[in-house]
Amino acid sequence: MSSLNIGLVKSIAVIGGGPCGAAAIKALLKEPAFDCVRGFERRAGSGGLWNYHDSRAGPEPVAGPSLDPHSPDLVKPHKLAPNQYVWPSAIYELLDTNVPRQIMEYSGFPFPKGTPLFPTKQQVLDYFKEYARDAEPHIRFNTNVVSVRYRPDEGKRWHVTHRPVCDETEGGLKPSAAHPDETEHFDAVLVASGHYELPYVPEKKGLAEWTSKYPGSVSHSKHFRHPRQFADVPGKLLIVGNSASALDLAYQAATVLQRDVYKSARSQAMLPGGSSDYIKTVPDIERFEPETKSVRLTDGSVLDNVGHVLFATGFLRHYPFLDEINKSSTPVVTDGLRLHGLYKQCVSYNFPGLAFIATPRYILPTRVGEAQAIWLSKIFQGKLALPSVEEMRADEENTVRLRGDSPKFHNLMYPDDVHYAHELNQHVYSTPDWQSGLVPCEWSHEDILYRASAVKMKEAYLKYRELTNGKRATSVEELQHAVDFRFEDVDWTEFKL
Ligand SMILES: Cc1cc2nc3c(=O)[nH]c(=O)nc-3n(C[C@H](O)[C@H](O)[C@H](O)COP(=O)(O)OP(=O)(O)OC[C@H]3O[C@@H](n4cnc5c(N)ncnc54)[C@H](O)[C@@H]3O)c2cc1C
Ligand SMILES: NC(=O)c1ccc[n+]([C@@H]2O[C@H](COP(=O)([O-])OP(=O)(O)OC[C@H]3O[C@@H](n4cnc5c(N)ncnc54)[C@H](OP(=O)(O)O)[C@@H]3O)[C@@H](O)[C@H]2O)c1
Repeated sequence: MSSLNIGLVKSIAVIGGGPCGAAAIKALLKEPAFDCVRGFERRAGSGGLWNYHDSRAGPEPVAGPSLDPHSPDLVKPHKLAPNQYVWPSAIYELLDTNVPRQIMEYSGFPFPKGTPLFPTKQQVLDYFKEYARDAEPHIRFNTNVVSVRYRPDEGKRWHVTHRPVCDETEGGLKPSAAHPDETEHFDAVLVASGHYELPYVPEKKGLAEWTSKYPGSVSHSKHFRHPRQFADVPGKLLIVGNSASALDLAYQAATVLQRDVYKSARSQAMLPGGSSDYIKTVPDIERFEPETKSVRLTDGSVLDNVGHVLFATGFLRHYPFLDEINKSSTPVVTDGLRLHGLYKQCVSYNFPGLAFIATPRYILPTRVGEAQAIWLSKIFQGKLALPSVEEMRADEENTVRLRGDSPKFHNLMYPDDVHYAHELNQHVYSTPDWQSGLVPCEWSHEDILYRASAVKMKEAYLKYRELTNGKRATSVEELQHAVDFRFEDVDWTEFKL
């Protein structure tokens, strides 16, 4: 049995100053054991992908499948003004949260009173920025991390190279003699760079021929901003996917444009979606047939006169700064569909001192990210021991057996997310003086009730908005009175509260 030799960690780099990077920095700063906690963020401020930008340029055309997670230049910033760049995100104009605000909250940091049950994108950004205020002095903004290298024979083993986001570096993408790259050395690296940056467009027969025959007729949900982008589509609008993006985009397009929207679903929806008679759910795509401008579905039926296809098929795991590690014999990213070599989807067991924050799917990233950061802070100080490398590997292999060697590997759907946080928190409570650090968020009885009922609650919320001319409910009681909302039954025996 071999153990992971993380060594004594004094300095830590946090890559990404979004909601989870900020949580990680705050958790680490509360621990006197660390001399240096430094965040790197390529955006100009905190808030991560919640920084909405409407370029008004319309959906960016997709030229074919997007399957390569390794190319460094696939995600590019837009230049707004001299030395001012925005990194586009998947946030769109009419986006509200799809989980109730109570369970999106960080430990002991509530949303302001009167915030709707499902806050707007701006309310979420304001909330995240307020939370990040104490972390901001420790973050280098407008700074793109371009490489992270592991040098086990050196005192500080993690070499982080970063580049300013400015005109000379073309927004942080190209090296420049005028603003040279800088390398700093750390004992550990926390990657909190998010995983909704690089669109995943799956291979579908005939797609490449279709896009060359009808340029601009295929796009990805990352570039959706408002249904008006599709008001003039000459023919049918087809949305591919059946998760959060596909469900909400179909609902928005159907209700705002009052036109039929075809949603191609290969599996059952697990997340909330508004309903509309304009939404026609159809099976998965068998192939594109550009000669007739039609799409054949897996049940043999054909959608003719297809004017636009919007892929809401998710994102690839994309860490171009880990290029060296990804070319090693133990890469973290291979095809971009899942991460490799991580214990609890968090700690690398091949590269001591490397960890990833908030990588699971279907979680509340703020809560999970915060719990992971507190847990890691104890590991890095040697207050908590990890299992042997063999046990950590076996744990990952077991997850592959249970959930698959696919994006589903990362699924941590309720109640698994609650159990996961509970397990990490229990480890933290076993360490001395844990109360003097950032105290993790515990799932209360009410939180679990909200978590279990989040899908039904959001659907009731949308119904309430339809009935009240757009009013946003701020409490469950409002929904209970107006649309007969009921909490889901919860089997309390499986929770240790
Ligand atoms: C459309 C959409 C809607 C969502 N809705 C909800 C919701 O309703 N509720 C909810 O809880 N969650 C929602 N999420 C999940 C969302 O990811 C989290 O709310 C939250 O943003 C996660 O924070 P993060 O810090 O992990 O990632 P991000 O917000 O993605 O932040 C990561 C940061 O890392 C920076 N970064 C990346 N690479 C580098 C680099 N090389 N160098 C320097 N900086 C870098 C990025 O610029 C970014 O600011 C949604 C996600 C999407 C895409
Ligand atoms: N607040 C909101 O309302 C809101 C709105 C949008 C997005 N979000 C968030 O954004 C994140 C990303 O969500 P997302 O919906 O963009 O991505 P996602 O959850 O990864 O969903 C991808 C969808 O594409 C389907 N798909 C993948 N490969 C396919 C293929 N080869 N052929 C056909 N279908 C395929 C998947 O089906 P399978 O499940 O069968 O693989 C799934 O339905 C999530 O955190 C989500 O909560 C939130």
